[in-house]
Amino acid sequence: MDKVLVTRDIPKNGLDMLKREFEVYVNPYDRNMTKEELIEKIEDVFAVIPMVSDKIDKEVIDRAKKLKIIANYGVGINNVDIEYATKKGIFFTNTPGVLTQSTAELGWALIMACARRIVNSDSFTREGKFTGFAPTLMLGKELYNARIGIIGMGRIGSSVARMARFGFNMDVVYYNRSISDKELIVDTGKIELDELLKTSDVIILTTPLNNESKHLISKREFDLMKSDVVFVNIARGEVVDTDALIDTLRSGKLFACGLDVYENEPDFDKRLLEFDNCVLLPHIGSATIKTREKMADIVANNVISAYQNRCPEFVVNREALCAAEK
Ligand code: DGY
Repeated sequence: MDKVLVTRDIPKNGLDMLKREFEVYVNPYDRNMTKEELIEKIEDVFAVIPMVSDKIDKEVIDRAKKLKIIANYGVGINNVDIEYATKKGIFFTNTPGVLTQSTAELGWALIMACARRIVNSDSFTREGKFTGFAPTLMLGKELYNARIGIIGMGRIGSSVARMARFGFNMDVVYYNRSISDKELIVDTGKIELDELLKTSDVIILTTPLNNESKHLISKREFDLMKSDVVFVNIARGEVVDTDALIDTLRSGKLFACGLDVYENEPDFDKRLLEFDNCVLLPHIGSATIKTREKMADIVANNVISAYQNRCPEFVVNREALCAAEK
């Protein structure tokens, strides 16, 4: 029986589908696999299902003698050396679409938590400090009619935009490399990055990580922001220069900051723990039961398609590897 390596436990529906066709090894630990473990286990597998935090680089790919598909459990694609995988004839797939709404909703959970100091208020209450209604207690920021600047207007950015417009009547502006598909967005305007940074009351990052977006938000960009901005990152940690973020927080400039992603996950910069106006989440953007089950279905189907010599539905390197089906 051919083998499949799953680097972290995924919902049962996907594993059941895979187990009908393959011998499946699931990382038994409640942590990411180390590079050594990955290299050892990948040697003789037909497929690997990595998480977006697993680096599948040239060294790992070279150790995989039978590998035909890398089926990322996630939409992000920055963790895999796609060019090298393609050169080796290995399919690379992801799970787009199904996590758009859950990730956008998480973005909104962070915006709300930051603007209304939800986490601080919860701690305050649990600590027995609630002595009765107080007019100046835990004052936050109102979102109605405020301006939200969305950096990266793909599917997730567009979904955040719709909620902003219809939920809070916000003035929605965005920055993207290109003008976004008009079908996806509502009543928004593409503006220059600097203008967005200078004028937004809420800034949210939803852009993919690539050479152009790495450290897109650094000291210069933080300096341009309003002093009481709510800053949220649900994209990738590397889009933000963490040192610059920490300096900005230390200067007291941001009203609040909400992070679901970090540079060098899971070893995020512990200096962030100093700030009680930061809400820190463990990369749970797509973490709803419905979405994670759909993602499990997709990765299993992608692997099974490759096994049956068909082009997987969500293949990223389609151009190069699915010539006949173009
Ligand atoms: C992804 O799929 O890329 C997300 O970051 C997971 O939440």
